[in-house]
Amino acid sequence: MGAKVYPEVSDEYKTAVEKARRKLRGFIAEKNIAPLIVRLAWHSAGTFDVKTKTGGPFGTMKNAEELAHGANAGLNIAINLLEPIYEQFPILSYADFVQLAGVVAVEVTGGPTIDFHPGRQDKKESPPEGRLPDANKGSDHLRDIFYAYGLNDKEIVALSGAHTLGRAHKERSGFDGPWTSNPLQFDNSYFTILLSEDQEGLLKLPSDKALVTDPEFRKYVDLYAKDEDVFFADYAEAHQKLSELG
Ligand code: HEM
Repeated sequence: MGAKVYPEVSDEYKTAVEKARRKLRGFIAEKNIAPLIVRLAWHSAGTFDVKTKTGGPFGTMKNAEELAHGANAGLNIAINLLEPIYEQFPILSYADFVQLAGVVAVEVTGGPTIDFHPGRQDKKESPPEGRLPDANKGSDHLRDIFYAYGLNDKEIVALSGAHTLGRAHKERSGFDGPWTSNPLQFDNSYFTILLSEDQEGLLKLPSDKALVTDPEFRKYVDLYAKDEDVFFADYAEAHQKLSELG
């Protein structure tokens, strides 16, 4: 897969990336905030529109306007938590910092290593509202949303596996509870639970269920439930691509 090529960054910048990576590892693990940080990184990137080349992971999530988008409820908490770390690395673009935090959050919960390339430049203007998926909708909607990023069916399913982490919060999305019984452990249990009949008390969004009922999506759900190594490899590739949209 062709990785995105960013303008070369200085040695000083590279050193700051590695220092920030270590600080983030400790901080995210200590505070148990990996799920929220993964959601922050994804909602930052998941605003890209491949046709107009607008939106994407360019550090705009701090804007009050974007934080007020319905899909971003609760992400102000993530921004505020990360601020003391970001303040230590003013050389980094906020765009790089957020995507680095997302990659680290997957790593510290036991997920795959995701390649991180620095060089995103911050933009000022937030994307319009409405580019992130609606959990109440089905497979047509998921394709509309993710194809607009330039992603495909396999990537939709692999990335959805991030719901192995975290939970929904009633006051944020209206949904409630975790998808798995170990929401701080990145593994393939999102898929095994999605396929199992008896998952008492665990969350399945309408958009999660669409991955089981849609035959194209289902192929990947079956594959990832059976083989965690394949899931990790595909997830790492898809997450990197998501983090480098634009
Ligand atoms: C496929 C379409 C998707 C839909 C409809 C969706 C929807 C949701 C909803 C409703 C929540 C609950 C938010 C809350 O109440 O706190 C949530 C949480 C979460 N989402 Fe997704 N999501 C999707 C894809 C993704 C992707 C692609 C990723 C990452 C690659 C992701 C990562 C997460 C994580 C980690 C949480 C837990 C956050 C926490 O514990 O605070 N989601 N998602």
